[in-house]
Amino acid sequence: MSALVQLKQVDVRFGAVHALRGVDLRVAAGERVALVGANGSGKSTLLRVLHGLVRPAGGSVLRDGATRQAMVFQRPYMVRTSALNNVALALWLRGRRWGASREEALAALARVGLAPVALRGARALSGGQQQRLALARAWSLQPDLLFLDEPTSSLDPHGKREVEALMAEFACDGMTLVFASHNLGQVKRLATRVVYLEQGRVLADLPVHEFFNAPRLAQVSGEAGLFVKGELA
Ligand SMILES: Nc1ncnc2c1ncn2[C@@H]1O[C@H](COP(=O)(O)OP(=O)(O)OP(=O)(O)O)[C@@H](O)[C@H]1O
Ligand SMILES: [Mg+2]
Repeated sequence: MSALVQLKQVDVRFGAVHALRGVDLRVAAGERVALVGANGSGKSTLLRVLHGLVRPAGGSVLRDGATRQAMVFQRPYMVRTSALNNVALALWLRGRRWGASREEALAALARVGLAPVALRGARALSGGQQQRLALARAWSLQPDLLFLDEPTSSLDPHGKREVEALMAEFACDGMTLVFASHNLGQVKRLATRVVYLEQGRVLADLPVHEFFNAPRLAQVSGEAGLFVKGELA
């Protein structure tokens, strides 16, 4: 499979903090890659490098120039206007006419079940609705590759299920997903592959069923074994 994006020996520093160390990662079309690891292990930084928002201090980022990509942030930013306009603005900023942007935005809202609240203020929507709005905004850009940073961390079980179902549908439509998660149940449900980070290093990069074989992970790092056991307990 051809790589949509590939990192080679990527290093990222924020002052004295070495956030990523020698990271090699290759994401191929059709994969659903989960990034896991403790707080501060580098998941968000890795997503930002993959999306092109952070420039590495060392190493290289290779991209298939034809790949369209989008990112959903942990706390999505909503402009103080309607849900519809929040999606339409994203399209308009990429050069669509305003009329066409509004039409496509409405289709995107319908896709995530938000058509009934299209004209409501985006900031007045519930956390779960705002997260789905963020997904609609990303989906409207028709990305081949979608990055999601803890997309369900602030949601209740119902909201989590809704967002997970949408992610699964996007994947079925052929979208490649890379997402950070602390929820190992979710990783099991959605991922085909798991990348485990510890202090900015990739310590394990395994197919999902192998990742949950904790004894093997414990060989990689005691902390990794504990991480999986602790989260599943
Ligand atoms: N803009 C920044 N300026 C300074 N330090 C940063 C910045 N972004 C991240 N860091 C540091 O880089 C390290 C990795 O942070 P990162 O946010 O990537 O971790 P994470 O795995 O996403 O953590 P969490 O699970 O808490 O979201 C941390 O030590 C963090 O404090
Ligand atoms: Mg993070």
